[in-house]
Amino acid sequence: MTDSFDWLDYDVEDMVAGDKDALWHHLKPHKIFETNEQMIIVEGKGLMVKDIHGREYLDATSGGVWSVMVGYGRDSIAEAVCNQLKKMPYFAGVFGNIPSIKFAKKLLEKLPNHGKVYFSNSGSEANEKAFKIVRQASRIDPARKGKYKILYRDRDYHGTTFGAMSASGQAQRKHDFGPFLDGFIEFPHCTCYRCPYEKEYGKCDIECARKVEDIILKEGAETIGGMIVEPITAGGGILKPVKEYYPLLQEICKKYDIWMIMDEVVCGFGRTGTFWGHEHYDVDPDIITMAKGLASSYEALSATVVKQKIYDVFLCDPSDPDTRLNYFRDISTYGGCTSAMTAALESTRIIEDENLLDNSTEVGAYLLEKLNTLKEYKVVGDVRGQGLFAGIEFVLDKKTKEPVTEGQMATLVGNVLAENVIVGRTNSSFHGLNNTMNFAPSLVITKEQVDTIVAAVETGIQKTFN
Ligand SMILES: Cc1ncc(COP(=O)(O)O)c(C=O)c1O
Repeated sequence: MTDSFDWLDYDVEDMVAGDKDALWHHLKPHKIFETNEQMIIVEGKGLMVKDIHGREYLDATSGGVWSVMVGYGRDSIAEAVCNQLKKMPYFAGVFGNIPSIKFAKKLLEKLPNHGKVYFSNSGSEANEKAFKIVRQASRIDPARKGKYKILYRDRDYHGTTFGAMSASGQAQRKHDFGPFLDGFIEFPHCTCYRCPYEKEYGKCDIECARKVEDIILKEGAETIGGMIVEPITAGGGILKPVKEYYPLLQEICKKYDIWMIMDEVVCGFGRTGTFWGHEHYDVDPDIITMAKGLASSYEALSATVVKQKIYDVFLCDPSDPDTRLNYFRDISTYGGCTSAMTAALESTRIIEDENLLDNSTEVGAYLLEKLNTLKEYKVVGDVRGQGLFAGIEFVLDKKTKEPVTEGQMATLVGNVLAENVIVGRTNSSFHGLNNTMNFAPSLVITKEQVDTIVAAVETGIQKTFN
């Protein structure tokens, strides 16, 4: 038996070859890896990451998918996790453990209208729990009998599992994976730049929200139990609905007793300047799901938080043979990993103690202001966002709004990367509209770092389109 470990040692050539031979990378055409070396990230501090060859990049994506809220290299998270692992690493969520209790209490402090927290380990899974809650309630609650269907929007994404994919728009992402589950009904998003009703904000009647009632009535309100939305849509192209939108949607939901599920997987934990994305609106969702930034992705954790009235639906008498199965019969093995809640507690403490919401608001406003200066380029069609969550929609023609191609976007992002800045883009999600570059830097970003990002994007635009 050895008394030392070599997990942290590696040989560069061996790892580069191993990456090619053994790893199946996510979300990219695999063929390119036969010839192109893929970046291997080995270190991170703040917003900076270093690749295996020692080259440094400024990461404007918080780890690629908007989740490392407090930045890289937080010793205090590593230490807290290490201590907890030594003490008690795991026990299934059928019993309690100290980090789970503390973090559930913390979440309810942040969501005072809600009553219970259910832990699992990915955003997809948190949403699956929400759908299962709606479905089971439609069987066991006499007042909700038959209300099993879920409404979702055409540009939103809620995850990779079949239920979550069935509840996602982004047709291109779903391509080839059907058939999907029954009982998921799509409706158009609120996208002012490309209004589905060809209206203009200020001169419209918020048709994007009001017309959802027609869809509900056509489908049968008595069959619909839930509606899932992202507060500000992420992978669909950084889409921020107008302020009237969610209050109107919720009014319609209330009228037909439809539970509103707010997917805070991306927007939660300060991404948009408030702790929750939905706080920008006068809305009070029934179920809130979260993941990604929950533990700043130092550990895998997600949660489904419900109002007490929803939890109460599942309070059956175990000795009653007719209703004894009416509790929420669900488990998530990794929902019992104590290190995840520990990382989440420490990440949330950092967000609070370092006033990162204020930084998200202030530096986020600066980011939007700077990105808006790029509008002088003929390919920059729209700049939008909230807090440290922003997007640029690229077009070939500002009048017709013809989108640039996904190939052009790949070249553009590659040219920005050549400037040592990592930015994101809509990735084969919505047919014909994969033309948004996105920015979601860690909440510790400075104005100087914003300048670096915007300068790199400007150079990228010049190289790609001029
Ligand atoms: C809004 C939203 N919800 C859910 C998910 C799914 O999360 P996960 O990949 O952790 O399953 C994502 C992932 O990108 C997301 O953007």
